[in-house]
Formats: sequence, structure tokens, C-alpha cells
Amino acid sequence: VDPDVNPYSMGAGNPPPALTGREDQEQQFRTLLARLAGGLSDRSMIVSGLRGVGKTVLLLEFEGIAKDAGWTAPRPIEIKSDTDFRSELADAAYQALLQLSARRALGDRLRSFTGLLRGFKVGASSDGGVEFSFDPAAVSGSTGDLERDLMYLFEELGQTAREHETGVVFLVDEMQFLAREELEAVAAAMHRMSQTKLPIALVGAGLPQLPGLVGEAKSYAERLFAYPRLGPLSEDAARQALVAPSEARGVSWCDEALARIISESGCYPAFIQAYGKEAWNHAPGSPIRAIDILDAEPLVLAQLDEEFFHVRFEKATDREREYMAAMADIGDGPYRTADIAERLGRRLSYTSAPRDSLIKKGLIYSPDYGQVDFTVPKFSPFMRRRYPLHEGKRDP
Ligand SMILES: Nc1ncnc2c1ncn2[C@@H]1O[C@H](COP(=O)(O)OP(=O)(O)OP(=O)(O)O)[C@@H](O)[C@H]1O
Ligand SMILES: [Mg+2]
Repeated sequence: VDPDVNPYSMGAGNPPPALTGREDQEQQFRTLLARLAGGLSDRSMIVSGLRGVGKTVLLLEFEGIAKDAGWTAPRPIEIKSDTDFRSELADAAYQALLQLSARRALGDRLRSFTGLLRGFKVGASSDGGVEFSFDPAAVSGSTGDLERDLMYLFEELGQTAREHETGVVFLVDEMQFLAREELEAVAAAMHRMSQTKLPIALVGAGLPQLPGLVGEAKSYAERLFAYPRLGPLSEDAARQALVAPSEARGVSWCDEALARIISESGCYPAFIQAYGKEAWNHAPGSPIRAIDILDAEPLVLAQLDEEFFHVRFEKATDREREYMAAMADIGDGPYRTADIAERLGRRLSYTSAPRDSLIKKGLIYSPDYGQVDFTVPKFSPFMRRRYPLHEGKRDP
């Protein structure tokens, strides 16, 4: 079928033509906003899941839902290992302020905010799109202590939003990359919001280790947030994700073609889009048949290798790669760390360095004590296929 009108979306963070199977999370988010708007408290959300399950596009969906509900939603903040979180938050808060002041002039409030935000931006480069053309003598409420500053910022913002009969939702992606004290500050600020019932919500998204990290930061965080976990789509939702976009363009699918994609993709959204895209390009016309899927498959796998698996693999050092090869060599996860050490012919203590750094880089996580697994679905067959463990090859 004509590639020019191919609706499927490959690539991290690209909104799908039909976002399916996330109705529960969407409903939970709507309820959160409605309750906060009504002066009731509710738990903000920490969404977690493996790579490619649709965390980022769900955050974008939430941004749209929030705006439709009359809320103010700055663009999602994506945390990277070198993110200046204070400054990113200041930018987001400033965006929120501009959206609020577009409704009604903020007057004195804007002035005092600017002082506060200045404090947030101290030491940060000024190319973040926030301009402070105000009197530098404007009172700065910032203390330099992130936890207190964030609490204060959220309180001010929350009160302003309340006066404007709206609320503000912060969206934080790749949240597992926040430092411990940053997670503490976020939890403390949100704790304050739940006590004061101010209309500030926060949705964080990240890898499966995120809920544990948040819980370790502040013990009360366990009750403060709801922790929806995103997994593969249901078969129905997977089918819908394929059928709805093509139906809109007058193209249909044979049942066997859909069944093949469902089984091969394991209903992981990223894989579904990859199959959808190539199958569409390969099929001579409607309906798309099982044979078209089989024809397209080598290309799908080659593309996934490059765009989904290899980019992760490249982040690892030689020693980390060897550790991952040993994991894959055992079979599919989760893996006992002791078994991995044994497979490498090393002591457990020797293997803790690559394990810890792989966790920090977000390539693996620990689902349970003494266990690890890949954060990328179907990563172990990729490793076996492309980078098998070489017996006898050990680094010095
Ligand atoms: N519910 C869904 N229905 C259909 N397609 C989806 C759905 N969720 C995600 N996708 C598609 O799957 C791909 C991966 O989505 P996304 O980038 O949001 O995943 P992610 O969990 O953020 O991954 P990563 O951890 O790598 O950032 C995208 O192409 C997206 O369009
Ligand atoms: Mg993402």
C-alpha cells in the first residue's frame, strides 16, 4: 500500500495513530485532575514499564487531556544523566505561569515568582527560553535547598492556579535518572500539595525500577503516589492499534496477518508499530495478508536491531556488554546475579560493578533481590543473535 500515507509510527516518543489499551490509566488521570480541581486530594501518578511500552506517548496524551480539562500543562521534562533539574523545573513553572497569566494578569504575583525562579536558575545557562528582564533586586525566595525551594514554588504556583480556578500538572519523563535528593524534593513537594490540597499534580514516567527509587527517597511516597505499571497491550488493544489507523484509510487486514503480528510482537507497542509500518509498505494492496507480514519480517527485524536494540547496546562498555552477553547466554530473564557471575567464570563481587553501572544507565533493572533483567523487551534474543558470549574470552 502507498508508503506516502503509511500511518504507523516508529520511533521513541512518536504518538501512535491510534493510542489503544490505556483507558484505565487515562481514566485514573482524569479522576486525579477532577478531584484536585474540586479541592479534594488524590494521588499523583508514577508510571513505569519497559522500553517501548508507551510511557512517553502516554505522558503526551496526558498533556492533551489536561489541557482539554482546562488545566495548565507545561511540556514534559525529559530527564537525562546531565539534566539540570532545577533549571528545567523553573522553565516548566515559568511556562505554567505564562499560560496562567494569559488568562488573567498576574501583577504582583508574577514579580515575586520571578524572584523565586531566578533563585532556581542560579548557575544555569540562560538559553533555556526563560527571560528575566525584571529588577534583579526583586526579592528572591530561593534558599538554595532544593526540597524547600520546590515546596515553596509548588505552593505559590498552586495558590495562583487555585485563584485562577485551574491547576498545573508537571510531566516528568525518564524520571529514574533523577538523583536521590531530587526525588526526595519532588516527593516532599508533592506531600505538601496533598496536605494543602492545592491543584498541582505530577506524573512521572520511567523504567521498572522507578517506583522503588521513589519509595526509597521518602517512606511516605508509597502512599503519596499511585503506581500504574504499563505492560504489553492486550490482544484486542494490539489489534485495534493496527486496524483503526488503516480502516480510516480504507485498508483492511486479514485475520491471520493480525494474528502473526500479535504473536511475533508480544503485543509490545513499539514492535506493533514496526510491524504495522513495514507490512503496510510491503503489501501490494488491501487487505494486508499473512504472506505480506512474512515478506516484511526480515526488514522489521533489521530495523528493530538498528533503531531499538543497537542504540541501547552502544551505551555499554566492553565489560558491561560481556555482562549482558552472559545474561542472554543463560536464556530469557529474570536472571540470578549469581548465575551470571558463574557464567562469566567470575566472583559475584567482581560482577557487581558492571551490574550497577548497567542499572544506572537504564539497560537492566533488578525485579527482585539478587535478580536482574533487561529493561528492553526481547533484548536477550538480540544479544544472542548479534553479540553471543564468547567462551574463554575474558577481559584482564
Ligand atoms: N497504547 C499504544 N497504542 C499504540 N501504539 C503505541 C501505544 N503506546 C505506544 N505506542 C507506540 O510505541 C512506540 C513506543 O512508545 P514510547 O516511545 O512512548 O515508549 P516508551 O515507553 O516511552 O519507551 P522508552 O522507554 O524507550 O522511552 C511508539 O512508536 C508509539 O507510537
Ligand atoms: Mg520514552
